Amino acid sequence: MSEEMRGTVSVITFNQVDKSFTEDRKAVKGLSFTIERGEFFVLIGPSGCGKTTTLKMINRLIDASSGTITINGSNHTDVNMHELRWNIGYVLQQIALFPHLTVAENIAVVPEMKKWKQDDIQKRVNELLELVGMDPETYRDRLPADLSGGQQQRIGVARALAGDPDIILMDEPFSALDPLVREQLQKDIKALQQRIKKTIVFVTHDMNEATLLGDRIGMMEAGVLLQVGTADELKRNPATPAVEAFIGRSVEKKNLSLKESLTPIDRSEYIRTHRDEQRVTVQFIINEHGEWVTTYNDHNELEAMIPIDASSSVKSAFELLESSHLPALPVQENGKVIGSVSYKDLARALV
Ligand SMILES: Nc1ncnc2c1ncn2[C@@H]1O[C@H](COP(=O)(O)OP(=O)(O)OP(=O)(O)O)[C@@H](O)[C@H]1O
Ligand SMILES: [Mg+2]
Repeated sequence: MSEEMRGTVSVITFNQVDKSFTEDRKAVKGLSFTIERGEFFVLIGPSGCGKTTTLKMINRLIDASSGTITINGSNHTDVNMHELRWNIGYVLQQIALFPHLTVAENIAVVPEMKKWKQDDIQKRVNELLELVGMDPETYRDRLPADLSGGQQQRIGVARALAGDPDIILMDEPFSALDPLVREQLQKDIKALQQRIKKTIVFVTHDMNEATLLGDRIGMMEAGVLLQVGTADELKRNPATPAVEAFIGRSVEKKNLSLKESLTPIDRSEYIRTHRDEQRVTVQFIINEHGEWVTTYNDHNELEAMIPIDASSSVKSAFELLESSHLPALPVQENGKVIGSVSYKDLARALV
């Protein structure tokens, strides 16, 4: 099968799936949705709405009461349970490393079960530690208790990737972390996913996190999937008042991502000029690949400020603008300039 054809195959399909734990109540009802290969799919909704139940049905930690789930086109009750689990990495809602195993041993659990050669396992462990930004020499032989919460979560991510699964399930992996560590891990996981192109199903109850990470977002309430779409689609066309209310609440937090606030740039424009009252105040020079080259201030002097990342918060953009003494800064995503942000853009985002 060619790459293009593979790109159109759904990796996970839910068709009218129900799950009841008790006679009288369904934890999830009539779930129907598909997740494409390489997609970063976020499930969001309030506590108890059925997010973890949905996630666990994907790797059959929980079996559906009715309906069908297919993985890579096969009904997943027909697939060998061990193969299914080994092919799906799982990062739990609570940090769950084995406390008596070292970092390396924790990461090696699935490769060991798959009976990989020891050399290959050790190579893989080092490679994964590098991938999640932790020096193998320093951390390989530590116990989980000797790591910070953020480092433990990174090991949790490395462990989920260890057996080279196609699909990774992540259940609120960053919710216990402080905001700064959380923001860093969000950026890292997004960059990682763009590099390794795995299918990720990510659960959160935080709309900002969902907006930042998700290619598409599935919003749940009381066991029902209300709407699936990009963050933008959900914001522009909420399917139900409940979706609108949920998004409204998160917008109120004013913790918006920069991406919604910037002035987009046409990639064919090599010089982007900002004017205040007719006066040129700042110019960004961009090369033919859309990459930032340099910034000039109103005296035609070179400025050292590097572009802001599109995944930054409005708050951090504000702080950077202030420290730069420039009226606007370029914004980049995946190394390419996608727009610029000025005080005016930020003010607009906050009203
Ligand atoms: N093993 C179980 N037995 C009985 N009821 C369960 C079981 N697991 C989950 N439930 C119920 O199913 C519903 C959905 O639970 P689930 O854990 O999927 O919610 P969630 O969206 O992940 O919530 P949270 O954000 O708090 O993690 C809840 O009402 C919960 O009490
Ligand atoms: Mg849960």
